[in-house]
Amino acid sequence: FYCVFHPGMRGTLTVIGGPVGEVPAPPSFDQALRIPKVLSGDHITIPMKKADVRIMADGPKTTMWTYGGSYPGPTIERRAGQQTKVTFVHKLPKDAGSMTVHHHGGHQSSADDGQPTKHLIEKGAKRTYTYALRDAGKPAPAAFNFYHDHRMHVTARNNWRGLQGMFLITDPKEKKLGLPTGKYDVPLHFSDRSFTASNQLSDPFGHAAHSGHGGMPGWMTGEHAPPNDATVGQRILVNGQYAPYLTVKPGLYRLRLLNASLFSAYDFALSDGSAFTQVGTGSGLLPAPVTRQDVLLGPAQRADVVVDFRGKAGQDVLLSTIPRSDSTGTGSRNAALMQFRVRGTTSQKARVPGKLRPLAPLKGVPGKVSKTWTFDLSEMHSGGQHGSFWSINGKMFKASRMDHKVRMNSVEKWKLRNTSDMTHYVHLHQEQWHTLSRDGDEPPPWEQGLEDTWRLDPGEEVVVAARFTDFPGVFMLHCHMLDHEDHGMMAQFEIVR
Ligand code: C2O
Ligand code: CU
Repeated sequence: FYCVFHPGMRGTLTVIGGPVGEVPAPPSFDQALRIPKVLSGDHITIPMKKADVRIMADGPKTTMWTYGGSYPGPTIERRAGQQTKVTFVHKLPKDAGSMTVHHHGGHQSSADDGQPTKHLIEKGAKRTYTYALRDAGKPAPAAFNFYHDHRMHVTARNNWRGLQGMFLITDPKEKKLGLPTGKYDVPLHFSDRSFTASNQLSDPFGHAAHSGHGGMPGWMTGEHAPPNDATVGQRILVNGQYAPYLTVKPGLYRLRLLNASLFSAYDFALSDGSAFTQVGTGSGLLPAPVTRQDVLLGPAQRADVVVDFRGKAGQDVLLSTIPRSDSTGTGSRNAALMQFRVRGTTSQKARVPGKLRPLAPLKGVPGKVSKTWTFDLSEMHSGGQHGSFWSINGKMFKASRMDHKVRMNSVEKWKLRNTSDMTHYVHLHQEQWHTLSRDGDEPPPWEQGLEDTWRLDPGEEVVVAARFTDFPGVFMLHCHMLDHEDHGMMAQFEIVR
């Protein structure tokens, strides 16, 4: 076990205010937590449609764009190695435009990956994505993934409106470990939104996205800075509900934590001071459990943790996000998110073994870095335009430009480097990666499993390696702070035979 007490708690507090709406008073936890419906057939159909969702305990429901009528959408739950088809049917209003759905953390063909500009789903039409849930001839590792919209320039808007759902890949071998299962295994989707007085979503995009001269967005003509924290919402939601409670037994609970926010980081902690035992990343089990007082997750990061409520019958325990400031300008939020009411008794027999799943060695890692990706804010001076945009290697995303080519079945070592003055959370599509080093050192124990999204503080450098298998084609990499992604901080690579 590795114990860390509040790593990175330094400097002064950063309080983040969303652009719209009032700061909420501390919540009273009036609604029971919903667990999204689980779909587990081999061909699943999910309509994309407008729906009224119960987010606040009181007052009107919130009209959203949803997968299947709920927010988050239904949880897709499948066994590793089981081919899965999911048909998404576009029944959203016309102004939603065309859609594309990405299985985040998945390993699938380029046409099934939810490309931002290709293979789009037009209004009234549908598209079937095929997920083999296999990797290099073997069942893909069990993972806690999610699916979400990925449409060019409007990914933030579409996710804000509600197009997100969880995707759980299970593995029967995991069962033997004795980790909590059934009702003791709870998926938790965290996000934040701002609301009007009548509980409707605020619109943080109107002013920012398309307001400049000559068809250029204002941030590209220098009229204002590129959108940054527009999508920081005032209220933090758990499984699409504001301040829910969950009644639990005094036993062990496996909590799958997904930060599905568009921009915010959450630093999870428990109000009674007890620790989390982290057993996995989003990409499956760690080699061994790690004890952590707090778990910091940025957008799209997931953690698989076990919480111990034994001996706490009668108590109410809060799951909160604690304020934290690094030198980044993003910090994390300060709020109580949900309440666990520990009641009753249980004869549950669950445990966290001292060893979970060894990380299979990655053979053939090259001595040299094959590609360096530098995340920065660039200035543009061309054609009478001046402005700034989020960039990778100094370039704004362009669908017609290939940024890197990779040979099928080769292993590459990539360096991810943040040369800007704020934190970014970088996501690489398609493969699951080994984290070789963080700032030249061994990565922390919770980064010693597979990973697909990394925190990069200003000046930080993370070196990762993976083998490219199965599917030739084009895949994305980008900052998962969706305002940054939508405004240039995305690149693409092609796997070639
Ligand atoms: Cu969560 Cu490119 O995606
Ligand atoms: Cu970013």
